[in-house]
Amino acid sequence: MFITLDGVDGSGKSSIAKALHNYMESNYPNTVSCLTREPGGAGTHIGEQLRNLVLDTYGLLPETQLFLFTASRLEHCHKFILPALLAGHTVICDRFYASTYVYQFLDSKISLYLYNNSTAAVRESFTRHGLRPYPDLQFVLDVDYETMRSRLDSRSGQKLNAFDVMDKQTFDIRRNGYLAYASSSLNYNSIIIDATKPPQYVLQACIDVVEKHLGKTQ
Ligand code: TYD
Repeated sequence: MFITLDGVDGSGKSSIAKALHNYMESNYPNTVSCLTREPGGAGTHIGEQLRNLVLDTYGLLPETQLFLFTASRLEHCHKFILPALLAGHTVICDRFYASTYVYQFLDSKISLYLYNNSTAAVRESFTRHGLRPYPDLQFVLDVDYETMRSRLDSRSGQKLNAFDVMDKQTFDIRRNGYLAYASSSLNYNSIIIDATKPPQYVLQACIDVVEKHLGKTQ
């Protein structure tokens, strides 16, 4: 099973991804659960180098950014995600397709043609291995501006990347972009979760969806 979590910075997806991974490890001991993230990701020797490169995007052409993110994802899929899925493991990935839709396609105004073609390269890597080209569950963690601001402000000691600097207008574009992504019938199995709630509620909402899905597939 392939599960992704997306949302604006400050939506809490990284903490929920970790907590969901811990839950899966404790409650499904017969299935290996793997936690990974994008950009970069586990299992690729250039993953962290790609991550540093794509996060330092000041002054780069939007198209260059898109291709760097796509290159990073292709490596991640081929070296880590696909082998894990083919082995029957559960893969939980912090950010995936929806982030590219929001940050490159909407934010950076990449053309639909380029966006579709770059994601097609990733989708093809799944279908070539007989897997469906979309995650089984794509969670979108939704927060309002005030919640995001207070969470990011409380992380003041941390280094911000080029994408973290966000005024209200940019936030609205990104939030609405995630909601639009999740509502589109093209983006299979997207689930919007109200992430303004305390973490234990958000986690439980995700667990409920995962267990319902497992009930369907077992
Ligand atoms: P990161 O520090 O991992 O942020 P977070 O902890 O909130 O996930 O930075 C990831 C940044 O990369 C994030 O701001 C969004 C950006 N990004 C894209 O622009 N496109 C993508 O396809 C992905 C996966 C991430």
